Amino acid sequence: MASHSEEELRKLESEYCSYGDTVHYATVPKFFKEAEGSFLYDSGSKPYLDLQMWYSAVNFGYGNQAINDRLKEQIDTLPQLACQYLHEEKVLLSAELAHECERAFGLKGRVQFNVGGSQAIEDSMKLVRNTTGKSLFMAFMGGYHGRTLAASEITSSYRYRRRYGHFSNRAHFVPFPYCFRCPYGKTIDSCDYYCVDQFEKLFDTEYNSFWDPKAQEPEFVAFYVEAVQGTGGYVIPPPEYFPRLAKILAERKILLIDDEIQMGFFRTGKFWAIEHFGVKPNIVVFGKAMTNGMNPISGVWGEERLISPQKFPPGSTHSTFSSNPLGTAAALATLEWIRGQKYEQTVAEKGAYFLERLEELKKRHATIGDVDGLGLALRIEVTQSDRYTPNKALADRIFEAGLEGGIPTSKGAMGLVLDVGGYYKNVFTLAPSLEISREEIDLAFEMLDFLFKKYSVEGTA
Ligand SMILES: Cc1ncc(COP(=O)(O)O)c(C=O)c1O
Repeated sequence: MASHSEEELRKLESEYCSYGDTVHYATVPKFFKEAEGSFLYDSGSKPYLDLQMWYSAVNFGYGNQAINDRLKEQIDTLPQLACQYLHEEKVLLSAELAHECERAFGLKGRVQFNVGGSQAIEDSMKLVRNTTGKSLFMAFMGGYHGRTLAASEITSSYRYRRRYGHFSNRAHFVPFPYCFRCPYGKTIDSCDYYCVDQFEKLFDTEYNSFWDPKAQEPEFVAFYVEAVQGTGGYVIPPPEYFPRLAKILAERKILLIDDEIQMGFFRTGKFWAIEHFGVKPNIVVFGKAMTNGMNPISGVWGEERLISPQKFPPGSTHSTFSSNPLGTAAALATLEWIRGQKYEQTVAEKGAYFLERLEELKKRHATIGDVDGLGLALRIEVTQSDRYTPNKALADRIFEAGLEGGIPTSKGAMGLVLDVGGYYKNVFTLAPSLEISREEIDLAFEMLDFLFKKYSVEGTA
């Protein structure tokens, strides 16, 4: 294969690559050449510890041999097949995922596939529209469900809609229980879930505009949730929030749609993140880590009454590549990999250790306002030294410095791959490999400690 210098490639990129399909967070986006385990390597083979793993798509480590080998086998046997025909992997994968939902939620249902998270979200919207005949949805402030035209309508940022106009109906956005920055100015020790009460009030009388008491029908027919907000900054809700919300939704005949695209497949220590909260969604949407990021495939599970062939006939959402054999084979291999691990235990243990180290980091640096974690979905909220005012500039500087590399550690100089999210773009959303070792967690701590010390304008606590 022809080899080009980075300089040549950058020139070509600036002339021929649209920036529309990417997010250029770094001033000069970085080239990487190789990946293994928890590390990316640049063209000079220098290591970068990755704490974001392709936005949580590579939960099981770069170059996971078992999954890679299965994909290679599939390339040599049945690499291509139109979706109107059947192949073993598609059928087995559907059955396994449906069993995971039945185990978790006690409901029978079916699974169907598409190629990206946003497309699967759109498919779920069709399920809702088809069942209810209505198209008004609720979703959370700070929620992210993708950037296709319809998915943008339930993703809270106006930024994703501003240039492109409205495609359908913009969702009604409800405040998420982001307790560190409570939207109602309350504190968790005394609020008694005020936010849920506020939500319930929407249905008090017909004049609140969400409920017709005569027809006993809601105007908004589905609520899209992430159990832990991903792009919104790995915000973890308090334990009683979802059970209380789900009860209201059931009473008001509003479907609960669980977006597991970023938090599914054990990111939080459970197969589905919503399992932490003991509620039963009507529809589950998934993608990203289902193939360990190896081949684009995503999917939707729906309760039988929503997705039976009579209700949702062939052709409802078809895409050429929807149940492609490489994707289904890689996903089956991923599920087999998961079955061979004890993630419920190991993710909880590693997550607890990582969080302990983050607490230590917070003690050392007054520019860290909050740290939190559920399994290996962890957050560091970067602030001014008052531990509250968002400090995007510092988060950006540390992010860039991580990619510059050369950070001194007890194992030699290396770089750090971070991602910045959150309402104020001041949160490091940490999604390390679920295979990360204690030694690597310690390396992460060393590098973060070094970077906070070096770049916190106001010094350490
Ligand atoms: C929770 C959630 N939903 C939907 C999406 C959209 O998925 P995709 O980027 O594959 O379209 C994402 C992507 O980050 C996500 O995190």
